[in-house]
Amino acid sequence: MSVITFDMKSCTGCGTCEKDCPMGIIEFTGKSPSIQEKHASSCISCGHCASVCPCESIAMDGSDPGRLDNINPEVLPSAEQMSLGIRARRSVRSFRTTPVQENIVTSLVNTARYAPTSGNSQLVGWTIIRTPGELRRITEHVIDYIRFLAASDDPAAAAYRFADMVKDWEQGQDRIFRGAPAVVLTHAPLSHGAAAVDCAIALTCFDLAAFSAGLGTCWCGFFMMAYRNWEPLRKAIPVPEGHYYFGAMMLGYPSYKYKRIPPRKNAVINWM
Ligand SMILES: Cc1cc2nc3c(=O)[nH]c(=O)nc-3n(C[C@H](O)[C@H](O)[C@H](O)COP(=O)(O)O)c2cc1C
Repeated sequence: MSVITFDMKSCTGCGTCEKDCPMGIIEFTGKSPSIQEKHASSCISCGHCASVCPCESIAMDGSDPGRLDNINPEVLPSAEQMSLGIRARRSVRSFRTTPVQENIVTSLVNTARYAPTSGNSQLVGWTIIRTPGELRRITEHVIDYIRFLAASDDPAAAAYRFADMVKDWEQGQDRIFRGAPAVVLTHAPLSHGAAAVDCAIALTCFDLAAFSAGLGTCWCGFFMMAYRNWEPLRKAIPVPEGHYYFGAMMLGYPSYKYKRIPPRKNAVINWM
């Protein structure tokens, strides 16, 4: 079922919605748009038609077209501001003990849920680990896996000094979540072909939103490695039936401010 309705009193029949519909399911009879009934089930509810309509004539989910937030181009960040924001973000590995308030995390998630998803599936779910007891319990499981690898001849064990990582943990130093007061996880159904990509994009958007709000983040690769391979860890974190965690990120207030942008490799671009 399509969720789109057209207000024929204000529609001028300009045809922009038809041209912009990614699924090609809007058709015009004269100057009147409608969703072709036989294709209605193909509507992905992306809202492009309502977003692009110059006359505010398209509503989604039966709501008033005027209820969609207007985009004021004057308050959008400039190209330079976006570029600086992306280049100035750093992975933070030293956090203040100040907890991140629930309403702040919720607001960041509410920004990140606008990230693109394959077919507008919007299947990404979020888990926030934020109590010291839960953070410790989960970290212990990651450390158990790292301890297991440290005792093996896995090449990663030497490269990442897993034995030292375990020793540090036993001496009170957390090199998994770096003492972050919260860890943000994204999950999606294993059956969804783009689950991993959707989860990574959502967390990337969360990352940039968090940076712009004065928070620090860092991807948790060691956690993800353990999650993939260590069943006790997988069992330790609830996830909806059929879903799997594809992304993990530390979150907290950074101890330091970064003042310069470190160099990065030149981009390798193949022009064709
Ligand atoms: C998928 C992924 C996993 C990562 N895992 C970790 C991690 O477990 N621990 C850590 O300290 N940094 C981790 N990082 C952060 C990278 O080391 C960091 O992005 C890189 O050194 C560049 O630094 P920058 O993010 O400040 O530009 C990870 C980054 C990515 C993208």
